[in-house]
Amino acid sequence: MTILVPGGAGYIGSHTVKHLLQEGFDVITLDNFSSGKRELITGGKIIKADLMDKEAITEVFKMHDIQAVLHFASLIQVGESYINPQKYFQHNLVTSLNLLEVMLAFNVKNFIFSSSAAVYGIPESTPITEFHPLRPCNPYGKTKFFIETILKDYARAYDLRFISLRYFNAAGADPEGQIGEMHEPETHLIPNILLFLLGRKDSFNLFGTDFPTPDGTAIRDYIHVSDLAVAHVLALKKLLQSPQSEFINLGANKGYSVLEIIRKTEEITGLAVQFIPKPRREGDVPILLASKEKAEQILGWTLQFSDIETIIETAWNWHRKK
Ligand code: UFG
Repeated sequence: MTILVPGGAGYIGSHTVKHLLQEGFDVITLDNFSSGKRELITGGKIIKADLMDKEAITEVFKMHDIQAVLHFASLIQVGESYINPQKYFQHNLVTSLNLLEVMLAFNVKNFIFSSSAAVYGIPESTPITEFHPLRPCNPYGKTKFFIETILKDYARAYDLRFISLRYFNAAGADPEGQIGEMHEPETHLIPNILLFLLGRKDSFNLFGTDFPTPDGTAIRDYIHVSDLAVAHVLALKKLLQSPQSEFINLGANKGYSVLEIIRKTEEITGLAVQFIPKPRREGDVPILLASKEKAEQILGWTLQFSDIETIIETAWNWHRKK
């Protein structure tokens, strides 16, 4: 069975491609390599193409018998989306609309979408369930919300079947050490601490010390990227069996503050983390914590790697050898 993976050369995409290959799927990674990396693709076919280019996508569907699409390709920086919303709406919406249009033209109806906890905005209550109101508070989160809205209408009108996976804080690296996180620029907490410890960043800033949390720093729900990869393959199998569209949170239902992450990283690496306290980043919410009940019930998902020690250890192993 052939699966098309736009954005398969990115962080979460590449870990999912690795798992799809292990599970015996034929995989075609489609990437424009604007941020994806060839070295993260562990097998299958690679096509360099841009989702802005509808003709190029059409050619891919003409040439291959694709049964499902796992769509990871997206701009992902919340901060940048504030400064340049046009770039985010143009890119994230148009690419997804093009992809869906070509899929439907070729009668391909199975779609797994990379959504985000950013669709919820500032949570009213935690843990956040899938019933929580959707009030995205930055352009990045709005792009995910709009695509989810489009998916619902396409499912109703065109018999599209989709599962939208709302990631909380993806972290860690392949436990086998083959692939890991390679963002440029890197904005995420755990890699930024590790890159600072390795001397590849001059300083490490702690953004926000006055949040309404026990230690004043923001709480996040860190989920291991390999557990995310497993969830995608479970979602794909589920969709192929029963055509029920769903929105599903992917988080560990465990919250750690930034200071707690710093302390854990110090324990694991044996190195002291010097940080510079800074004001909050625009758009950062005090707490994000997922309910994972739906993922467990619907997908039969169980976490293997998402304890915080394994997350930091696998990330540390990856960054050290890079
Ligand atoms: N942080 C620092 N210093 C850094 C980097 C981050 O203090 O160098 C802080 C942030 O301010 C935040 C926390 O660490 O309080 C986590 O920040 P990340 O950038 O690692 O993650 P976010 O929660 O901001 O963002 C992630 C995804 C987004 C997604 C969002 C909500 O990267 O794509 O979760 O789901 F939108």
